[in-house]
Amino acid sequence: MTEELLSLPVPSVPAGESGVAWLRSQVVRFSDGPEHTRRRALTTALLEGVDATTLDELADRVLPGAPADVAEIAPSYQPHEPITAQADAAVERLVARHGRTETTAARIGLLVQAWAATRAFADRLTTGDRTPPVPLTRRQSAQGVVEVDLTAHPFGHGAHACPGRELATKIAKNMAFKALHHRAEPLLLPNAWDHATAVALQEAGYPAVGTTSFGVSAAHGVPDASGLAKEHTRALARLIGTLPCPVTADVEHGFSEDPDEVAEYVASLGISGINLEDGRGDHLADPADQAELVAAVKRRTPGVFVNARVDTHWLGIDATTTEVLRRAEHYLAAGADGIFVPRLPLPGIATFTATFDTPLNVLAGEPVHRLADLGVRRISTGSLLFRAARAATVETANALLSPGTRSGAA
Ligand code: HEM
Repeated sequence: MTEELLSLPVPSVPAGESGVAWLRSQVVRFSDGPEHTRRRALTTALLEGVDATTLDELADRVLPGAPADVAEIAPSYQPHEPITAQADAAVERLVARHGRTETTAARIGLLVQAWAATRAFADRLTTGDRTPPVPLTRRQSAQGVVEVDLTAHPFGHGAHACPGRELATKIAKNMAFKALHHRAEPLLLPNAWDHATAVALQEAGYPAVGTTSFGVSAAHGVPDASGLAKEHTRALARLIGTLPCPVTADVEHGFSEDPDEVAEYVASLGISGINLEDGRGDHLADPADQAELVAAVKRRTPGVFVNARVDTHWLGIDATTTEVLRRAEHYLAAGADGIFVPRLPLPGIATFTATFDTPLNVLAGEPVHRLADLGVRRISTGSLLFRAARAATVETANALLSPGTRSGAA
């Protein structure tokens, strides 16, 4: 039924010489037939190869300097909405800069379509709301204009289905992952080591899933923090990156000391976050060098949440709060979105959160409410789930195989 309604023509818009009326008359969204086919190809071509990780990056690629104007145009874009003088002026400013062409209209239309819908999608991923970000659309039937509920097809269906679906999903997950660090309660982040465990955790209702480098390395028979899990980590990130929630990966120290190589590696994962550690086995990286890695990742993929890990307490090297703060300052100046200090004692946690507003991540251990009261924004399980599963595997096998036990194996 919804599919049938969505295959009806879109309500037609009158020709317009300038402002929003001109924009509406030129875009793919409000056209049908050969005009729609031509404009759809234009839009698809504009989106091709755009690997933006934020809406601002998308705007930069598609129509530089447009965000403020796009925000003015959006409320007047739909034909059933009144056109404001500000919206008309914003269209004309963009036309003056980029020309009154169908391509300019396609660029504006693409960004207007992207803006509010992607934010609404990110909000839903953050709160767990399952209603469609674009609740309805309109079609022209013989009886007049009908509203079509999009619950069954959040990205539309048929000829007008959203061409930005993949990109929008990636950007919305990035936005949601960041927002999950700024809610009233800390983010409880479980760390998976394979596809099955990531799916189980997502299905159990966790709003985001991470990976454990210890678990991933152990599952593939290589030592942790040895740099040997690079391809296993990438394969897992790509696999679980398709889950309907944000995903972050523990990428050790980025598997290279070359900032550009680390940045390219992170971009190739296509997920919402990474943990990047300054531990190098038996010593700590120079914080200025480590900051270069952080900065390169943020330049290449600004929407990816970089959780800079300070390994002072993990490795027991320079394990003082002063050293944690010094290192954190370097990484925050380079653009890190969060700081992770495994094994940081409670007084150090209190000093950190009193010094920086940036989200602090610690390992699970202390009661959640205690960490929350100290201002911790993210609590990770690290390798705990992996170790628990391994122990439970042996225990279950032993219980089943011990003499006198009936087999319950499937
Ligand atoms: C990067 C972000 C996005 C871009 C570039 C984008 C672009 C577009 C464009 C150009 C169209 C018109 C296609 C046509 O008429 O042939 C469209 C349609 C549509 N978009 Fe998106 N969009 C984005 C995000 C979203 C999001 C987050 C949602 C909601 C989940 C969404 C839902 C829709 C729907 C439902 C339609 C079809 C409307 C209809 O059939 O009447 N879009 N999108």
